[in-house]
Amino acid sequence: MIPPTVNAPAKINVHLRVFPPENGFHPLRSWFRTVDLFDTLSLETGRRGAAHTRGCSIACDDPTVPRGDDNLICRADAALRGSESEPGELDHWKSPRRYRLVKRIPSGGGLGGGSSDAAATLALREFGNPPLGLADASRARYAAIAAELGSDVPFFLSHQFDGTTDATCTGRGEIVEPFTPGRRHAVLLILPGLHVATPAVFKKFDELPATMTDGQPDFAAWSMLPAIELLPLLRNDLEAATFALHPSLGELRAECEQRLGRPVRMTGSGSTLFSLYDDPAEAAEVISRLDVRSIVG
Ligand code: C5P
Repeated sequence: MIPPTVNAPAKINVHLRVFPPENGFHPLRSWFRTVDLFDTLSLETGRRGAAHTRGCSIACDDPTVPRGDDNLICRADAALRGSESEPGELDHWKSPRRYRLVKRIPSGGGLGGGSSDAAATLALREFGNPPLGLADASRARYAAIAAELGSDVPFFLSHQFDGTTDATCTGRGEIVEPFTPGRRHAVLLILPGLHVATPAVFKKFDELPATMTDGQPDFAAWSMLPAIELLPLLRNDLEAATFALHPSLGELRAECEQRLGRPVRMTGSGSTLFSLYDDPAEAAEVISRLDVRSIVG
């Protein structure tokens, strides 16, 4: 039997404004969009899945992926377990659960891989059920779990349940307003292989002079622009903080901009850099100009 399997996409923050912290978190306003780079998460059922005494375990070829309770998959699983009370649960949701993760999204890269895996864990719980059939109470339950797990998880949950690809995210990231993009630009992802710690970046952000805010751009309108007109409008307020902590990344960005002849931005708290193209073939062609691992996603 093929195990229930869900693709967990990466995201980029096409545009990211960050405001001074409130209650330990920074309010933000960001255009989130998925990119075609995926982890794949399966739930092992039957005897293989049940042969574990612990509540949740993860099989993954990537040794850098934390196992057990440090992993957002197990935290999502534990949250589901804690909130399951309805009768008629499927048998494999009552027994210990074993997940298999194919990891392709680099961690510490600002691509939301761990958060997307967590949302995929929640989606696996509804595997085979039509999302439209999800009762409002269940949706609210999943939304609350997602927000508790991390600021990026609600966006990925919206992708899993509603097919959201693009959204304006506010609050600390958990308020998700999906929109349909006018164009789907090709994204050139530049993956420097550097692990950036998000809390350290926000701490540095607080130490640096405040940046000016720019009102409330209409991202749906922006998404209709050709890449070369859109790119100069884009900001990421965390860039200065990340580059202060990792000067080599700032240098790499400058070098990539020069080699590509167009703006290059950072996603999230880094380290992944990106640029946008109207034509995926052009994006694929320019990879040869860069000395750092790059893909079109
Ligand atoms: O929510 P998440 O676990 O992704 O956040 C990781 C850390 O990043 C938080 O503990 C917080 O220090 C910082 N953060 C923030 N403001 C946000 C999102 C995250 O300060 N909007």
